[in-house]
Amino acid sequence: MASSTTGGKRPRGLDRIETASRDEIAALQLERLKWSVGHAYRNVEHYRKVFDGAGVHPDDIRELADLARFPFLNKSDLRDHYPFGLFAVPRQKLVRIHASSGTTGKPTVVGYTQRDIDTWAGLVARSIFAAGGRPGDIVHVAYGYGLFTGGLGAHYGAERLGCSVVPMSGGQTEKQVQLILDFEPDVIMVTPSYMLTIAEEFERRGLDARGCSLRIGIFGAEPWTGAMREQIERRLGLDAVDIYGLSEVMGPGVANECVETKDGLVLWEDHFYPEIIDPESGEVLPDGEEGELVLTSLSKEALPVIRYRTRDRTRLLPPTARSMRRLGRINGRTDDMLIIRGVNVFPSQIEEIILNERVFAPNYHLEVERDGHLDTMTVVVEWPAAGAATTSREAAARELAHHVKSSVGISVQVRVVDPGALERSVGKARRVTDRRPR
Ligand code: DLL
Repeated sequence: MASSTTGGKRPRGLDRIETASRDEIAALQLERLKWSVGHAYRNVEHYRKVFDGAGVHPDDIRELADLARFPFLNKSDLRDHYPFGLFAVPRQKLVRIHASSGTTGKPTVVGYTQRDIDTWAGLVARSIFAAGGRPGDIVHVAYGYGLFTGGLGAHYGAERLGCSVVPMSGGQTEKQVQLILDFEPDVIMVTPSYMLTIAEEFERRGLDARGCSLRIGIFGAEPWTGAMREQIERRLGLDAVDIYGLSEVMGPGVANECVETKDGLVLWEDHFYPEIIDPESGEVLPDGEEGELVLTSLSKEALPVIRYRTRDRTRLLPPTARSMRRLGRINGRTDDMLIIRGVNVFPSQIEEIILNERVFAPNYHLEVERDGHLDTMTVVVEWPAAGAATTSREAAARELAHHVKSSVGISVQVRVVDPGALERSVGKARRVTDRRPR
């Protein structure tokens, strides 16, 4: 297969390719793309069938843009070939299997060869380094361990970088706080929503979380906003950095923000080739335009993905701190988008408004219902703990509804509940209950 820049070695500083010229990166991508598409075609019946059906062949790839002629891979294709039907290597070559929880039906199963695991560890090490983590740091991993890729993905990457890893996993919030106090980690890797649950536990114990040892938080696995970043940084006194990934493409570490710029997720383009498409027409959009992210793996052996439709909405931005392009903040999946009386709404838009009000606690839930023919949305939001309130609940609710109306364009009900009334996340937060009939 194509050579790896990350496999095997423990990085001291940046990987050379992170600061290479665009031409060098593009040349490497093309060489690896040819390999990856050929590998998928030769070894996976599904790819052979759909490429032949579309009248395309791996030899048609002469430049990177030629990929646009190839068919997409959808999540349903993974389900249809459950469990091992899309693997490009014999089952005996798999050293690890993960699966996504899959709220409906069968989970999607993903697998890794030893080399895939090495590449993944290398890219997560690179990600932690970009976030400001250094060899010798203590890394507290509070992403869930198990079939979810978060815990083990973070774990191997932190070990690869040369850190001391605390494999805490998600849950047991009191113990999370105790271990942070006792072990004094430098870095925490956790979902942003669970970070807030942990911060609350500090406060419940009368401790100021800003005084804890944590210097850096590497947050991902769910959408979060710039306003949430400010809130977390203020409450914990650390640098909050974004990490992106998805099981089908690898797991955490497909892209990561650099702490020095905090201006979007650097996509590790030596291992993944990105396209942004119009989700309706499937047309590739120019850099800078928002659409659905489509990813092609360039080095994966066990489960090559060619033009995988992530359903994540974002934009491709020019390089800044590294030579690789960046992803704008992931606004949420196309499947998370709510259509309320014809208006497209992402939960993250509401989150931004709630947090910017600086009146409520940063915990919220959206309830969507249908009243006759009319969609209704109720924003359930929590009142802050005693002492923090600066206005009345009624006035704050009116103000919030007004801001949602003026910036998102929909009328909502606001229900302010007591401090602590909303369910707390220990992993990915569930922000929406949609009770409309399907
Ligand atoms: O969530 C992998 C991961 C673990 C990423 C830990 C980062 C940290 P899945 O469970 O397959 O894998 O879910 C992938 O989560 O398609 C996005 O919709 C969402 N997601 C992941 N990272 C971010 C992020 C892991 N930084 C799905 N911002 C993806 C917004 C994110 N959404």
